[in-house]
Amino acid sequence: MLPIYLYGHPVLRKVSAPITPEYEGLKELLEQMFATMYESEGVGLAAPQIGRNDRIVVIDADPVKDSFPECEGKKFVLINPEIEVLDGETVTRSEGCLSLPGLSENVPRVEHIRVKWLDENLEPHEEVFEGFLSRIFQHECDHLEGKLYIDHISMIRKQLIKGKLNNMIAGKIRCDYPVKYAPKKR
Ligand code: NI
Repeated sequence: MLPIYLYGHPVLRKVSAPITPEYEGLKELLEQMFATMYESEGVGLAAPQIGRNDRIVVIDADPVKDSFPECEGKKFVLINPEIEVLDGETVTRSEGCLSLPGLSENVPRVEHIRVKWLDENLEPHEEVFEGFLSRIFQHECDHLEGKLYIDHISMIRKQLIKGKLNNMIAGKIRCDYPVKYAPKKR
């Protein structure tokens, strides 16, 4: 498995580049990303979280099917995904991220989206999602824009977790899976 880059690392804040047919080693990278996601018990992982600013996401939402039936058997490789918001309805729910271990916050997300993407063979797909699956897609696609879920929470909540975030940046947290801390500031 690959180490997961933690909050504070600049790679998580960059806009990722689209994948072209010439991209090398995609199959191997996808295998490593799935292995890393399963090992760290996540339901989604975006390439910036393993230190690569490439528009690649892996999702396997099946482990949360008991709470969210829409997630049963839902496994995806997303290359160059694009999200279209279908209506203004939003739902607020608790969310976490492998790059922010030990934290979870309520995050408002739009409920209905249409997603276009390429699969591992660069074949195009298009599908409408709702519920927790819609949330996972939005969370992972945010990573490709250099955004994190804490960017969607209130200033007050952000203030309340500031100590934890600073500890993360300083590398003063323990984690069950291999991680890469932010580079030390001089
Ligand atoms: Ni995340």
